[in-house]
Amino acid sequence: MKNIVLVGFMGTGKTSVGLSLADRLGMTFLDMDDMIVEREERTIPEIFATDGEEYFRSLERSIVQELAEREGLVVATGGGIVLNRDNIDDFERTGLVVCLSAAPEVILARVEADTNRPLLEGDDKMVKITDLLNKRQALYDAVNCQVETDELSLDEVIGAIMDKLE
Ligand code: S3P
Repeated sequence: MKNIVLVGFMGTGKTSVGLSLADRLGMTFLDMDDMIVEREERTIPEIFATDGEEYFRSLERSIVQELAEREGLVVATGGGIVLNRDNIDDFERTGLVVCLSAAPEVILARVEADTNRPLLEGDDKMVKITDLLNKRQALYDAVNCQVETDELSLDEVIGAIMDKLE
């Protein structure tokens, strides 16, 4: 069974969609952020503060290489996985990569109360979201398979992904 890999900006629903999809298809769900936290035995903000973003990206890179060798997984990636195109290419070799998207307002509502995303810390989260989205939009757009989630229920998002599997 091919892997299904969910990419997309923070707050686009990768984890909740991934959990339900894995449940529906009887596949194993893995969340890359959770794997990193478990292996490092510290939080993502701690990793960024102590060792910096580049170190975090190297952890992501080695997990991608590991997971791309496996089968039958639904993977929720971190939002920055697209920063290295090799990550997408590796996942595409053994799986379907699906990019979830949502409007900045929807993203803000989902991440507003969250303190676990170091790249959004600061006074104005909306400015951070739109800046980062602008910088990364072309990278998300470059993923072949896209699902725009704004108008869809969780079930509809899952249905849209399952359609792409066929
Ligand atoms: C990041 C997204 C986060 C997490 C880290 C960096 C990013 O994951 O990997 O804070 O660069 O977009 P989520 O997309 O699951 O929030």
